[in-house]
Amino acid sequence: MANLFHLTRAGVSVLIETSAATPNIVHWGRELVGTIDETSLLSAIQEPTPHCDFDDPQLVGIWRENARGFLGAPSIIGSRDGLDFSQHFSLRDVNQISDFEIEFISIDADAELEVSVRVSLLPSGLLELQQSITNLGLNDFKLDSLTTWLPLPDYVAEQLDFTGRWMNERQPQRKQIQSGTWLREGREGRSGHDFTLIEFALAKGTSFENGEAWGVSLAWSGNSRHLIERTPIGRTSIGAGELLLAGEVILGKEETYAAPKVIAVYSSEGLDGASHRLHVQQRSRANHPTNIRPRPVTLNVWEAVYFDHDYAKLAELADAAAKIGVERFVLDDGWFGARRHDRAGLGDWVVSADVWPEGLGKLVDKVKSVGLEFGLWFEGEMVNADSDLYRAHPDWILHSGGRVPPEFRTQQVLDLAHPGAFEHVFNQVNAILSEYDIAYIKWDHNRVLTEASHLGQAAVRKQVHAIYRMFDQLKAAHPGLEIESCASGGGRIDLGMVEHADRFWTSDNNDALERQSINRYTSIVIPPEMLGTHIGPTKAHSTGRTHSHTFRAVTALWGHAGLEWDLTEASESELELLKGWADYYKAKRGLLHSGRTVRGDQTEIESQTYGVVAHDGSEAVYMYAALRPSEFSRPANIRLTGLDADATYEVKLVEPAGAANAMQMLPPKWYAGVRMSGGLLAAMGLRAPVLRPEQAILIEAKRVG
Ligand code: GLA
Repeated sequence: MANLFHLTRAGVSVLIETSAATPNIVHWGRELVGTIDETSLLSAIQEPTPHCDFDDPQLVGIWRENARGFLGAPSIIGSRDGLDFSQHFSLRDVNQISDFEIEFISIDADAELEVSVRVSLLPSGLLELQQSITNLGLNDFKLDSLTTWLPLPDYVAEQLDFTGRWMNERQPQRKQIQSGTWLREGREGRSGHDFTLIEFALAKGTSFENGEAWGVSLAWSGNSRHLIERTPIGRTSIGAGELLLAGEVILGKEETYAAPKVIAVYSSEGLDGASHRLHVQQRSRANHPTNIRPRPVTLNVWEAVYFDHDYAKLAELADAAAKIGVERFVLDDGWFGARRHDRAGLGDWVVSADVWPEGLGKLVDKVKSVGLEFGLWFEGEMVNADSDLYRAHPDWILHSGGRVPPEFRTQQVLDLAHPGAFEHVFNQVNAILSEYDIAYIKWDHNRVLTEASHLGQAAVRKQVHAIYRMFDQLKAAHPGLEIESCASGGGRIDLGMVEHADRFWTSDNNDALERQSINRYTSIVIPPEMLGTHIGPTKAHSTGRTHSHTFRAVTALWGHAGLEWDLTEASESELELLKGWADYYKAKRGLLHSGRTVRGDQTEIESQTYGVVAHDGSEAVYMYAALRPSEFSRPANIRLTGLDADATYEVKLVEPAGAANAMQMLPPKWYAGVRMSGGLLAAMGLRAPVLRPEQAILIEAKRVG
């Protein structure tokens, strides 16, 4: 059997050797060119033996067993009632599925366990790892954790991940890697507002544009762990896995635990390079939303009416929306059961006779008659105590013992692993989708999971599988149905959910200034076309800040765009601007939702640039946003990155959503158009205008030679 396996594709190499009868990833990162001599490689990687250490150098492999002399975190933690806590796996099979995909299966005959890892280098250069463990013994094996680890080169210096809370998702935190373990855990039972979405290790100084980055992301919508470990012997590694609650996975004879996939990205072209690979891979999926149809301009009526459902008002909104070119109208919370406020009704997915005595048909027809699709809000995993469902089945909530878990937004979580609960939700939602012509559902998840137990056993994992199944079954029953994953804004955005949902509600914070960073960082992993970005009201409901129409509109352009505003309040001139904005989005969405996203490195922290460049380099659109007053009276240049360095571009200001508010006697001369090479635009750029803070402009570049 060969001992060396080299997968290489799209500028990335993974080198795995098995000389110690265990798969050992010795390199993951930049492409290795030239021949690799196995004997020389093994000599090159063999560590010296320092004093006071194991007598022989150990190749610990990806399962990092203590039995092989590894003292860092092992991949597997578990035992058979205290026994078989220590394993030593020996390679049994190697299945080379293709040049880019290989599976290793190992066995520990004493511990009676089998493990496998499937390593796939995808066309985008992303690495996908899928591990599993099977109990071959008669007695139960209790699995505490199964982590997928990848080695990092010794020169990685920094780490970057993301944290947040409701209204402030995906805020970056960056620091030096030091000895010890850095652990990011998600215990909300959904991926969560503070879910990092990706954990990066970086070479010193890696930026958006330059440098090497290695990232891992758990493709999973439940509890999670992302780790970076630097051990005293000097090994640095990065890992991810599902966070299992006590006793959550107990494997009976011949039962298997399949870990969620871990997606690993390497880039030698900075964070933008990593982001690009992630986008390319997702866009290659047949069910990726833009492979089905362009992303429609969406009006969500939540911030316009909240629980105040009134046909006349909603019809007026639909008319206004149609006039400015909106394509989808979403009726949010408040249409069902006793849901006149947020303390009742969840669980009863039947149209409320109080607010909609004739059903929703009249509104659906109205919306459709003005040319829009109809969308509807659900929060199927949840139940209020004040609901018919809870009164009939109080035992269907996730709970432990006889306790009722603490209320959160006055609600509890249904145990969807309970067949009755699952069927109830599926049947009620299915009935609504069958009765009305509904193209789209927004599916919310506003409560965290606590005491998530199914028949007494921890069941976050079961809950996640159930919601995936729910979405898949609803889609199968209603071909073409789209689902937006929302969890009080961006509380369930992850690479597991991308395979089941079509859109994420990025944040409940619609303040354009806040969205400048929330959108910027969330889109590192999730392609913009899957991120809901709405123009909110003039005065943001989330922060009370007031922003110009132009700043709100320019900020909302960079995603699956829409509005969340009482359009009946908008002036004629605002409606005209909105129409111009919607027309522009429609004209440009092909580019915005397929091109390479570039963020560009900042020369000053008060402003930022964000853009999308067409794959063939023929055109690009950029946003330059002034976030705070500039340090300088003439703010630093706007560098336009990602263009073809040798080609010539016509570059000009475009104002489809009105003019930004500036403080300058004369605007920059290039506003009217200049011709420059892509190389010059990236190296030198354009003089920035003197914008007032919280203002943004759009710049178009078109290749002319
Ligand atoms: C959550 C969502 C909002 C809205 C409300 C309705 O907070 O994030 O967009 O749907 O619920 O209650």
